[in-house]
Amino acid sequence: MTAPRLTIGVFDSGFGGLTVLRALLPLIPGAHYLYLGDTARLPYGAKSQTTIARYAVESARFLVDHGAQMLVIACNTATALALPEISAAVPVPVVGVIEPVVEAASMGRGGTEVLVLATQATVQSHAYLDACNRHELQATEKACPLLVPLVEEGWIDHPVTRDVLRIYLTEALATCNPTAVLLGCTHYPLLAGPIEQMLKELNSAAGIIDSAQATAQAAAAVAKALDPPSSLANAPATFECYATDSVEKFARLGSHFLGQPIPEVHLIDLGG
Ligand code: DGL
Repeated sequence: MTAPRLTIGVFDSGFGGLTVLRALLPLIPGAHYLYLGDTARLPYGAKSQTTIARYAVESARFLVDHGAQMLVIACNTATALALPEISAAVPVPVVGVIEPVVEAASMGRGGTEVLVLATQATVQSHAYLDACNRHELQATEKACPLLVPLVEEGWIDHPVTRDVLRIYLTEALATCNPTAVLLGCTHYPLLAGPIEQMLKELNSAAGIIDSAQATAQAAAAVAKALDPPSSLANAPATFECYATDSVEKFARLGSHFLGQPIPEVHLIDLGG
C-alpha cells in the first residue's frame, strides 16, 4: 500500500504564485500540490483590505476542503493584508511570502538598505516596512500598480514595460540607494531580467531578491514537521491547478511562470 501523500495548497490571485510552486516542486519530494489562481477577481492589489481578506479566505477554504494539509499564500497582497484572517479561517498551518523573503534579505547580501517593489495594497499596508524594521533593514516601499497587468498580458520583453520600469525605478531611486531590491509581488520574478537591466541603466548596483525561493524553503520546513521524511514518497511531486477564470489563458500564461506545461486546469466558481 502506498503511503498517503502530503497535500499542499498554494494560493495566489493569479499566475504569479506559480513562481513559488516552481521553487517548491523539487524541494518537497512526493508532495501533491493544489494550486489555486483566483484569476476572475485579480488584481487583488487594487482592492480594499476587507475585499482582499474575503477573497483570500474563500480561496484558502476551497484548498483545505479539497484536501490541503498546509497552505502557502504565494501572494504578497493576500499575505500583507489577510494573513491573520486566513490563519483563523483554516485548521492547517499557513505560510506567507513576506517574512521568508525579508529574512533572506537580512541574511548577508551585504548592506541594510532595501527597495521593496509591490502592489498598491501591499505598500499601503506597510507589511514589508514592519517586517524590515523587525530585521533591522531600512526599507523604501514603491507601489508599481502597472506591472501586474503588463505581466498578465505577457508583455515581459516589451518597450512599454521598459518605459514603465524606467519611470518607477527612477522615482524610487531618487529617494533611496538600495543594496537589494525585493520583488514584493509574486508576478514580478517574470520581470527580474528587465528590472535588473533597468537598475544597471540607472546606475544602481542593487541585487534582486524574489519571494519564491525563500518562501519555498520556509514551506519545506513546515512540510517536514508535518510529514516525517520516511513517509515522503520518492516519486516526483505532482500538481493540479484550479482557476476562477479562463482555463485556456491560465494554462498558456501560467506555463511561463511554472517553467513547464500545465496539462489541465480546472475551472471553479468561488462567487463574486
Ligand atoms: N501576485 C500578487 C502579489 O503577490 C499580486 C497580483 C494582484 O494584484 O492580484 O501581490
